[in-house]
Amino acid sequence: MKILEIEGNVPLIGTIGIGGAKNSAVALIPATILTNNKTTLTNVPEITDIDALCDILEYMNVSITRASGSLVIDPSKMENAVLPDSLTNKLRASYYFMASLLARYKHVAIHFPGGCNIGSRPIDQTLKVFRALGASVKEEEFLFTISAEELIGNEITLDMPSVGATVNAIIVATKAKGTTILNNAAREPEIVDLANMLNKMGAKITGAGTSTVKIIGVDNLDGCFHNIIPDRIEAGTYILLGVLVGTYLCIENIIPEHLTALLDKLHEMGADIEVNQDNVVVNAHDNLTAVDIKTQGYPGFPTDLQQPFVTLLTQARGKSEVNETIYENRFMNTIYLNKMGANISVKERFATILGPNKLHGEEVVATDLRAAASLLLAALKADGKTVIKNVEYLLRGYEEIIEKLSNVGAKIELKEI
Ligand code: EPU
Repeated sequence: MKILEIEGNVPLIGTIGIGGAKNSAVALIPATILTNNKTTLTNVPEITDIDALCDILEYMNVSITRASGSLVIDPSKMENAVLPDSLTNKLRASYYFMASLLARYKHVAIHFPGGCNIGSRPIDQTLKVFRALGASVKEEEFLFTISAEELIGNEITLDMPSVGATVNAIIVATKAKGTTILNNAAREPEIVDLANMLNKMGAKITGAGTSTVKIIGVDNLDGCFHNIIPDRIEAGTYILLGVLVGTYLCIENIIPEHLTALLDKLHEMGADIEVNQDNVVVNAHDNLTAVDIKTQGYPGFPTDLQQPFVTLLTQARGKSEVNETIYENRFMNTIYLNKMGANISVKERFATILGPNKLHGEEVVATDLRAAASLLLAALKADGKTVIKNVEYLLRGYEEIIEKLSNVGAKIELKEI
């Protein structure tokens, strides 16, 4: 097990550069196999989720050349294969191969995807899309076999704006015959990034970033060069850190518009933040006001920042209420925040935080990726030493986090026990 040891309450000064978006990269990589030609991705985050996707590609004989921050993917010698549980259970995004293999071979056999244990994460909306385009789906013991003689465009309305189903729909419809209209689509910037890459490859996708996406199927796609957008969740996490312990902490290489919901809430709390064209500069102070948040799909407040935000709310004056509408099990971090001195009560999808409360170092356990980030922020704010167990979760989604934090003055050490 990997653990982090952190000495808290040290002011952080300097600049943290943000890497490429995890949730963009994990959709772009499976989509590159829609062509036989090479695709080069840059600004690829150095995280273990990318390692897991590369393992899946290599299992299918796709050639990968990985240098720092770039990935060249060459599927010219690719072979279709049944994707085993040991490869797919490492991450949620493995199910984007359902769409890309179906589009490429009209046949895919793949096990149920993994992903953080933050609530039930069904894939019914993706299967609905595949069926609407003419595929048949067989499910046996978590093995999905999906086949189609022909994929034919259709009009589909998602039951909810699912990110995963929107990604899968765009990928599969790109190689279907005719036009697909996807209503109630997710509007996340990562969806726009996917559409932009596919359009560079020769796809005909319009409306990405709105609730209605139109995809005109094409027969052939080419390779391309694509630079991945900055990770708004990584950026948001470090901005929250700056509000807690920053002294002129600059978070750079970001797209501030992607963070509007977070920045609005921070302004409402009275945080000291200067927003510039591609960076924000943050200073901590101890006069923050409690606020309420409700998680929603983009452009609403992102569920992926809810847990780190709760850490900040422990330092705000008054009563804050957090309504987690996307996942029913995304408050596991609060158990450990309370152990560190917070006053949080959870009832179903609501957390009530009374603050401010001084945090102190403790031994705590990360239960999922963003819970790990929440505990890390608490540890960096707390007096004394915190040990966070299970930090493999953190390394799945935050690139070079130890280096980035050490460079701005954090006392943090990664150990293997
Ligand atoms: N849902 C269904 N049926 C479906 C799909 C989704 O009921 O077929 C429900 C889910 O149970 C959930 C809601 O719809 O309650 C939203 O799920 P969505 O499909 O949008 O989420 P996802 O694609 O599984 C992605 C990110 C998550 C992020 C969510 C919401 C990736 C790889 N994952 O998950 O990221 O929380 O969108 O924005 O892009 C993370 O990075 O920590 C993370 C969990």
